[in-house]
Amino acid sequence: MDANQAPQIEKAARLLREARSIVVLTGAGVSAESGISTFRDKETGLWAKYDPMELAHIDAFHRDPELVTHWYHWRFTRCKDCEPNAGHYALAQLQEQTEARGGSFSLLTQNVDGLHQRAGSTNVSEIHGTILTWRCTKTGEHYDLAEIDFSSFPPASRTGGILRPNVVWFGEMLPEQELERAFRDSSSCDVFMSVGTSSVVQPAASLIELAKGAGASTIEVNLEPTPISGIVDVSVFGKAGEALPAIIDLCKEGLS
Ligand code: APR
Repeated sequence: MDANQAPQIEKAARLLREARSIVVLTGAGVSAESGISTFRDKETGLWAKYDPMELAHIDAFHRDPELVTHWYHWRFTRCKDCEPNAGHYALAQLQEQTEARGGSFSLLTQNVDGLHQRAGSTNVSEIHGTILTWRCTKTGEHYDLAEIDFSSFPPASRTGGILRPNVVWFGEMLPEQELERAFRDSSSCDVFMSVGTSSVVQPAASLIELAKGAGASTIEVNLEPTPISGIVDVSVFGKAGEALPAIIDLCKEGLS
């Protein structure tokens, strides 16, 4: 972490330490240090190599279910050996600290990799779904990955339907329950922290404005400015795996 970020880190820690209710929204940047590609990085991002409209859109699945399911299985094989990083663990600690002092904590993630849960975060809202379970397009029945025969694509369900990943594709609505929770928690929190997201995909990108409009203090942790950087109270520029532990360690010190 650049030493010049110290004042911002201290300000973020003070806001989080004094908050009664915290919402954290994460994006692909929080998993980047675990080795999982982000989407919009110009060189290494998935969308630099693949066309999201050809692979991550409901119409693409209807047009070519074999290609789309094959690609999601490939994405899963790339992330299944990845481990949570220090940023994931720091957010799990922040939840523990906040709830231990009677505060409320809500983690909303756009990521589908399950790393927050593996780091110990609980009650995580996966607003863009998960790659770790699939469902039958005919019956809606959910399948764990271990139950699925990936020797052919699209994989078949027990009832002869085809299986799709439980991710939210472009052209699809977010799960209603997750959306309601995201709006409810964001409009009633004291502090909203956005971590590792380009803040360009709706409705996730507008949650911070909803929080700010309801009186919350706002924090952004990112490598670089995003469309929300101009409205936040605190901007911490750095890697999530370094910035979050620095912020949460200061939170702990203040509690001692
Ligand atoms: N630490 C902090 N931020 C990082 C790091 C890091 N180590 N590495 C990258 N970032 C930042 C980038 O600067 C960028 O702002 O993370 C952000 C990643 O942005 P995207 O690749 O657009 O990912 P995300 O914001 O999660 O995308 C939102 O778009 O493609 C859809 O459904 C997909 O959920 C995804 C949604």
